[in-house]
Amino acid sequence: MAARLMGSWPRPAHGIYRDMLPREVISTGSLLLRPPADGDVQDIVRAFDDPETGRFLPLTPLPYRAEDAVEYLKAAQVKWEGGGAEFAITEGGRYVGSIGVRAPDQWGVTEIGYLVAPWARGRGVAATATRALTDWLFDRGVRRVELQAEVENVASLRVAVKSGFREEGRRREVKLLRDGRYADLITFGRLAHDPGDAEEPYLPFFADGQLTDGVVRLTPMTVDDAVPFNAMMAEEAVAAYSVGPAGTLDDHVRRCRNTGYWWLSGQRIELAIRDAATDAFAGHVQLMQVAPVLGQAMIGYSLVSAYRGRGFMTRAVNLLVDWTFANTALHRVVAGTDESNTASHAVLERAGFTRECRHRQLLPRPDGTRADDIEWLRLRPA
Ligand SMILES: CC(C)(COP(=O)(O)OP(=O)(O)OC[C@H]1O[C@@H](n2cnc3c(N)ncnc32)[C@H](O)[C@@H]1OP(=O)(O)O)[C@@H](O)C(=O)NCCC(=O)NCCS
Repeated sequence: MAARLMGSWPRPAHGIYRDMLPREVISTGSLLLRPPADGDVQDIVRAFDDPETGRFLPLTPLPYRAEDAVEYLKAAQVKWEGGGAEFAITEGGRYVGSIGVRAPDQWGVTEIGYLVAPWARGRGVAATATRALTDWLFDRGVRRVELQAEVENVASLRVAVKSGFREEGRRREVKLLRDGRYADLITFGRLAHDPGDAEEPYLPFFADGQLTDGVVRLTPMTVDDAVPFNAMMAEEAVAAYSVGPAGTLDDHVRRCRNTGYWWLSGQRIELAIRDAATDAFAGHVQLMQVAPVLGQAMIGYSLVSAYRGRGFMTRAVNLLVDWTFANTALHRVVAGTDESNTASHAVLERAGFTRECRHRQLLPRPDGTRADDIEWLRLRPA
């Protein structure tokens, strides 16, 4: 049985992979990928000597000087000689980035890495080059291409998805950063026989980076929000209705480092509610338990005590739910509330939710008792 199954698995084009990658030029759209050359040194220095490059490629020297670029060119040469590939991404003859792969292993598996110069970012250079290089590798008998991006590197995570890679897992605390912290990597893979389509995110990012009605502002929660978020969660009035163990500041910092990845991968949206007049952190609202197959998600929220009684949460819930129906395929947004949480019931009623059902003894309370959960619903407008 096992032998029959093995026979049906895709195999490297040449059995065990032994090929060297040819030093070729790859042309794709307005980009040309070619081995890097001495004439690129100045642009390489400018591209690498950049805070974002330094942040996400912690093994590169920072500051980055001409002698570092010369070392990089030598390493690129060694990489080619060892069976890998290193390309300069060029546009109109000018260097705009670097992309490469290590030598494919005996099973025809390799890993891609890239950077785009600051002056060429945000217009599809990385995704176009990654897709072209991956297709070129498949044409040369490579079977599987891997890609890893730090959980906070939303641009790179997005590049992976746009280039037809599929998310495969998370490697926890695998990468040492310059500040001594270890970061998680999200791993992606693309197989030669995968369709390689660029999946549209189920939860798109906000077009303007925020939602606002002039009184409150909803912004993606970041690490800068962890301290006020932590203080809010410790407030008695908030803790009384929290489900699960109280988190520590470290837990909340970790949570904030994941928010971009969760959003991009369609798992949930985590937002800070800000007082639009002062920009101060006033609370938190989230869209979670996203179930595309049902077209349903759940909304959850907490408000700092000092901001209560001003209608902030009703505004925040309305902004998020209106955006959800206008920008996603979700059909139902539900909310679960402790039966005794009358302030929360009032928010949901004002925000157009209707009481749908009671889940008996669903919610564990901090004191060890259990509360009934009242579930509320807002349906996509007809
Ligand atoms: C990651 C990097 C290569 C992306 O290059 P790029 O050419 O700008 O990438 P693309 O334009 O193809 O795609 C970037 C996508 O991320 C999105 N993006 C970028 N920053 C974002 C952010 N902070 N939040 C949400 N989306 C973001 C862009 O909008 C774009 O998506 P879209 O096409 O859907 O709008 C570039 O930022 C870089 O060199 N960073 C430093 C080095 C690095 O991180 N290398 C990768 C290590 S794994």
